[in-house]
Amino acid sequence: MLIRYKKAFEKIAMGLLSFMPNEKDLKKLQQTMKNYETDESWQLFLWKEDEDIIGLLGVNFTDPKMMQIQHISVNPSHRHQGIGKRMVNALQEMFPDWKASANDETIAFFEKCMQEGNTAEGSGC
Ligand SMILES: CC(C)(COP(=O)(O)OP(=O)(O)OC[C@H]1O[C@@H](n2cnc3c(N)ncnc32)[C@H](O)[C@@H]1OP(=O)(O)O)[C@@H](O)C(=O)NCCC(=O)NCCS
Repeated sequence: MLIRYKKAFEKIAMGLLSFMPNEKDLKKLQQTMKNYETDESWQLFLWKEDEDIIGLLGVNFTDPKMMQIQHISVNPSHRHQGIGKRMVNALQEMFPDWKASANDETIAFFEKCMQEGNTAEGSGC
């Protein structure tokens, strides 16, 4: 399930964020975490399964009711099980009035997700 980030999850969140190709530099990663902790329009969500945090979704909420997925990452041991798509789906369910979009870093996966329809079941988005 998708849960909101809390400071207690900082280390695991940074680990997951570091899988993003544009977050390999430690200084950049620390700045990104700071933005999520201080900028109200930047919101981090984590995917929790059986008490483990195994995925991360970073979103920028902008007018008019747009939510841009800036970061998406799944623990390598849990990839190809539909978690990435389920996270996008769960975000849309959590904020039904907001339109999901992507940035340059997440567009490839986001578009793949959209192509495969919009079902909550299986690996569909
Ligand atoms: C992208 C990511 C979140 C997908 O998580 P996941 O839980 O494995 O995703 P799902 O199981 O829901 O979907 C897997 C599908 O997404 C595809 N996919 C994975 N990464 C992709 C990417 N960067 N661009 C496009 N498609 C991608 C896989 O090929 C797979 O397709 P298939 O089912 O046809 O084989 C994960 O691979 C990851 O954490 N990557 C590192 C971080 C990253 O690069 N994020 C930005 C992605 S644009």
